[in-house]
Amino acid sequence: MKTLFSGIQPSGVPTIANYIGAIKQFQTMQYDYESYFCIVDQHAITVPQDRLKLRERTRQLAAIYLASGIDTTHSTLFIQSEVPAHAQAGWLMQCISYIGELERMTQFKDKSSKQQDGISAALLTYPPLMAADILLYGTDIVPVGDDQKQHLELTRNLAERFNSKYNDILTIPEVKLPEYGARIKSLQEPTKKMSKSDSNQKSFVSLLDPPKQIEKKIKSAVTDSEGIIRYDKENKPGVSNLLDIVSVLKDATVESIEKDFEGVQYGEFKSFVAEVVVDELTPFQERYEHYMNSEELDHILDKGRDQANMKAQKMLTKMENAMGLGRKR
Ligand code: TYM
Repeated sequence: MKTLFSGIQPSGVPTIANYIGAIKQFQTMQYDYESYFCIVDQHAITVPQDRLKLRERTRQLAAIYLASGIDTTHSTLFIQSEVPAHAQAGWLMQCISYIGELERMTQFKDKSSKQQDGISAALLTYPPLMAADILLYGTDIVPVGDDQKQHLELTRNLAERFNSKYNDILTIPEVKLPEYGARIKSLQEPTKKMSKSDSNQKSFVSLLDPPKQIEKKIKSAVTDSEGIIRYDKENKPGVSNLLDIVSVLKDATVESIEKDFEGVQYGEFKSFVAEVVVDELTPFQERYEHYMNSEELDHILDKGRDQANMKAQKMLTKMENAMGLGRKR
């Protein structure tokens, strides 16, 4: 069976963009692969985090994965920092990365330009750690949103570089983007991507927002003055974004939604979008509460840590052997 790996940072409560771009793909793909889902807390600390909030979000993210249908009788769910091989292999990947290629990463450029009190070195070396996450499991496929495409390209390059320099042991992973909704936009600035760490709460719908708040946020989404519900990413990014959201959640084509809403006012359309999101999230939030309040969560994470450790440690040993580290094992 081929292997799937993906990760989410506990840097905020995941949004409907994370859900549509990544999590929804996990539910459907997991059974076709040996699947690993990771809470990448070591990635989250590349920018300052409050210690207690990070702990809470890590736990929340575990419950979110489970509520969204990750089945741990089949798949492995674990926390990155509980599997030391990630940081160890991250170091090996840093040793074969070039500063120039890391400086070219758009996410580094974005995040470092926003950082006010000094840019951590780890913000630059984030992609080699992400490569390690993936390569440790012999991963064939990585389902992610569009913003991770560049990191995946670098991961492939690093794997190829390692294989040709040392020993041909790393699998070259493929990226898997969703057909629709690979880049959901901010509700307030629809030319920017929706982000869970945005300081403007109105710009995103979090998976844990109560129905009233979801309605409020969607009703205040920025659109345009044309008054026609039509998909045109270039000239109508706000309306197109709402169409993308509905289309993925309702599993309907954009054309059919445009047709259903011909001649309808934006206000009415937004109420419909809000209803679709609330309908998707209400049962999800009930399952989330169940996992948050059960002891099962810790047992699942313990089991995931042990399974991931076993697999990752084997590959780390192979990588260290290939590079001549320590004594031959
Ligand atoms: P993160 O935590 O920012 O996002 C988690 C997943 O959500 C996707 N995503 C989006 N999809 C559609 N529209 C958006 N606006 C949007 N914003 C985010 C992301 O593409 C991602 O799939 N570096 C990764 C975490 C990571 C990882 C990994 C992923 C670390 N190691 C190994 C895969 C494999 C990140 O910051 O994702």
